[in-house]
Amino acid sequence: MTLSGGHFLGVEDCSRQEWLNLLQLAGALKRGEIQLPTPSTVKVLGLLFSKPSTRTRVSFAVAMARLGGQTLDLPPSSTQVGRGEPIADTARVLSGYVDALAIRTFAQDDLEAYAQASTVPVINALSDVEHPCQVIADFLTLQECFSDLDGLTMAYIGDGNNVAHSLLLAAALLGVHLRVATPKRYGPDPAVVQRAQRLSQGRCTLTVLHDPVEACRGAQAVYTDVWSSMGQEAAAQQRRRNFAGYCLNADLLAHAARDAVVLHCLPAHRGEEISNEVLEGPSSRVFLQAENRLYGQQALLALLLDLV
Ligand code: CP
Ligand code: NVA
Repeated sequence: MTLSGGHFLGVEDCSRQEWLNLLQLAGALKRGEIQLPTPSTVKVLGLLFSKPSTRTRVSFAVAMARLGGQTLDLPPSSTQVGRGEPIADTARVLSGYVDALAIRTFAQDDLEAYAQASTVPVINALSDVEHPCQVIADFLTLQECFSDLDGLTMAYIGDGNNVAHSLLLAAALLGVHLRVATPKRYGPDPAVVQRAQRLSQGRCTLTVLHDPVEACRGAQAVYTDVWSSMGQEAAAQQRRRNFAGYCLNADLLAHAARDAVVLHCLPAHRGEEISNEVLEGPSSRVFLQAENRLYGQQALLALLLDLV
């Protein structure tokens, strides 16, 4: 079994059926139901991270170890690409050494350039536009909490950023109703919203609005992420002012369904996008969600490297 796209640069690189397979495999791996063959030659995943990471880096390393492989840290700042060697040349050379590349970067175009020149799978480990590996874990977590994703209602409160984009696209494929509430001028990219609408094929409603209370009303899952993503540090103060009123606190959560769960991709800024009370409260599934990064990526790697 493999993935038809060959790469995983964004949610749309897998079909709805492949997303369902991915989530099923992630759950089966977590429950220990699948015995993976140890590859006869050790597979190596190159990690090219231009931004900091805890969860993504470590879960990729552990996932590869559990698949009988290993990771190789290749920070652009200490390789020649950081001194201007073209991405295309780097991708061609690295393809001769490693079996896949996981790249955390700023521009989605850089990922496309790696994928175009690479003969091994390229995985988006977060860009300014998407965070597709994160949302594998997010929907695995929701599947564990609610059994069935179909028809579930989720609210996303905060910045219309990379995480919001991947949530919109995956929700569309998986049939999850999603309401995204952001301050004016901080909404998701309309082109991504349009793509998500097309992908949904009428399976679910995807709404972009500005009222966090309206977004939360009756939602079974409420998700938030930081107000300033990596690379936006200079605008952080301005953003804190513009996002006032978008904190996921107990008052806002009270508008969600009684059994609603709270998700956050982490790292969190307690007292900004989420209150400590909610993050540590009984509705929070944030640390289960973080743990699930491991199983989501293990499944993704098993499929991309053709190990199952
Ligand atoms: N959620 C997430 O991607 O965390 P890291 O930045 O620590 O990898
Ligand atoms: N939106 C955040 C996600 C971090 C995992 C960022 O890009 O910094």
